[in-house]
Amino acid sequence: MKILAIESSCDETAAAVVENGRTILSSVVATQIAEHQLYGGVVPEIASRRHCEAINGVVRETLSQAALTFREVDALAVTYAPGLIGALLVGVNFAKGLSMATGLPLIPVHHLRSHIAANYLAHQDLQPPFLCLVVSGGHSHIVEVTDYTEMKIIGKTRDDAAGEAFDKAARTMGMPYPGGIHLDKAAQNGNDHAFSLPHPKVDGCPYDFSFSGLKTAVINLIHNASQKGESLPVNDLSASFRKAVVDSLTDNFFRAAENLGHTKLVLAGGVSANSLLRERTLQECEKRHWQCYYPPLNLCGDNGAMVGAQAYYEYLAGHTASADLNARAAMSIE
Ligand code: KG4
Ligand code: ZN
Repeated sequence: MKILAIESSCDETAAAVVENGRTILSSVVATQIAEHQLYGGVVPEIASRRHCEAINGVVRETLSQAALTFREVDALAVTYAPGLIGALLVGVNFAKGLSMATGLPLIPVHHLRSHIAANYLAHQDLQPPFLCLVVSGGHSHIVEVTDYTEMKIIGKTRDDAAGEAFDKAARTMGMPYPGGIHLDKAAQNGNDHAFSLPHPKVDGCPYDFSFSGLKTAVINLIHNASQKGESLPVNDLSASFRKAVVDSLTDNFFRAAENLGHTKLVLAGGVSANSLLRERTLQECEKRHWQCYYPPLNLCGDNGAMVGAQAYYEYLAGHTASADLNARAAMSIE
């Protein structure tokens, strides 16, 4: 089954054709990052406008790279939640129009479910059940994936998402948006013991996260230094911050896995590109003789292929949309 999938939840206009949830036939991503960088973060109104301009060309290019016409595609899929509402609406309305014009069924896909499904494209052997750490710019969840479309949230952030914390700390250090990747690179040349930062815990909720105190601690260190006319060693601060975030993520993730009896662990979302998070998760899994999966770097960020992968399993579960499908800014993964 060939699915043409569309993604427009944030700042990438993307589409892909995916066969049977596992094979990418083509994938096109048009990123808006350069424009949002001018403002230090995503400007929702600009994002919506750029999606409108790009979507037609991205979908055409995707079909052309797969050497397919609409007649040779079996279904359409689109990210409908969660995300920036104006951005999501562009993809949803475009996909609804295509579905009406072609008569193809339309499959609505949850954005975080599709981040998890990025792993199915890279790891043909991966099947639920498993425990997944989903870490993106907007969410940080520990999710028990009992089946392809059955999920339970075990823990989540009480305030900032991990990616958001990385981006805000990086921005204060003068790095361009999105700062996570730049902070990760700087950290590779830094001493992670140089600064003592809080390792936040949420009382009584051993699987929940809190990153806003950590982010504020870094911002205060930088501001206090600049008021004294000093500047802090960015590599050391990056390394100390990255260690604190990754400690918190992996401590809770492994605690949840041990307590719930999971031995197959999966990373997903933009922050799963973080080099320390990947290394640490792999090491800890190897120590315990557990299975460890994460997406290749090109599938960690937003893309259409992961939407096509999850859409296949949503379709098998009977989840298709009618013409009244609407976008939703917030929606649980469960
Ligand atoms: O999943 P994603 O592409 O978009 C959302 O759904 O939010 O995640 C984007 C987030 C950004 O916050 C970005 O800075 C972060 O993923 N990110 C990283 C790295 N690469 C991307 N954070 C830390 N280390 C990285 N190497
Ligand atoms: Zn995402």
